[in-house]
Amino acid sequence: MDESALAELLRNERYPRAAGYSARWVVEGGMGPHPLWQAEALSECLVLEPGMRVLDMGCGSALSSVFLAKEFGVEVWAVDLWVKPEENFRRVVEAELEGRVHPLSAEAHALPFTEGFFDAAVSIGAYHYFGTDDLYLGYYSRFVKHGGQIGIIQPGLAEEYETLPPPHLTSYWKWDFCAWHSAAWWRRHWEKTGLVTVEVAERLPEGWRDWLQWNEACDLYVGMPGQEEARMLHADGGRTLGLCRVVARRNGKVV
Ligand SMILES: C[S@@+](CC[C@H](N)C(=O)[O-])C[C@H]1O[C@@H](n2cnc3c(N)ncnc32)[C@H](O)[C@@H]1O
Repeated sequence: MDESALAELLRNERYPRAAGYSARWVVEGGMGPHPLWQAEALSECLVLEPGMRVLDMGCGSALSSVFLAKEFGVEVWAVDLWVKPEENFRRVVEAELEGRVHPLSAEAHALPFTEGFFDAAVSIGAYHYFGTDDLYLGYYSRFVKHGGQIGIIQPGLAEEYETLPPPHLTSYWKWDFCAWHSAAWWRRHWEKTGLVTVEVAERLPEGWRDWLQWNEACDLYVGMPGQEEARMLHADGGRTLGLCRVVARRNGKVV
């Protein structure tokens, strides 16, 4: 499939900034729902100014890191566990962002930064892999300065179910979907620590459609239309599956 056909499949008026990037580059580097659409949706709730230091935690192929650096002029530390920093550095050089995006390999519980180093921390399609522990925010938030923002966006359900899976999704369910918490769950998960003030905790309007559009485009690109995740999203029809975005500010005296 050529670039223009793929770009057509991924045409989405909702995300004008993301539209400026090669569709093939995104599809070949994406590891979950469209990373640039998610980054753009999250950025709507963030104050990002040129020169700010931003952590992109669980950046995968660092596409969102490149996007944030290019769109907002921020300096990004692109941290990931599964994708090697050498591979991300190649993408950074190709994007002519050497010195502005810094790829690093680190586990989310062993971050090589000093307290208050970042103006903001984002995590796109990743925080639910390591951030559901009640105590994790206490560790993670320390790397953001007081008054700085912490933002996450990832798959989530519309509400918390007493038992999982939701009955209509039984045939598609995988055990690790249990980390797809609702926006209300994330709000309480963070607020109960008293360490942050939650500014936004919501289900992205029509996020499930964006996720489905992305999956259908990727499935066609690899010549295997109608794979399981797309079928699950169709079966759900937006009843519960979607994307959650949550943004909070670190409490404490701003200096
Ligand atoms: C679904 S991928 C999303 C990647 C990218 N943000 C995107 O949207 O394409 C989740 C990412 O979280 C990272 N991750 C998962 N657990 C992690 C951990 N304990 N420490 C650091 N990164 C982790 C993985 O390396 C992976 O790249």
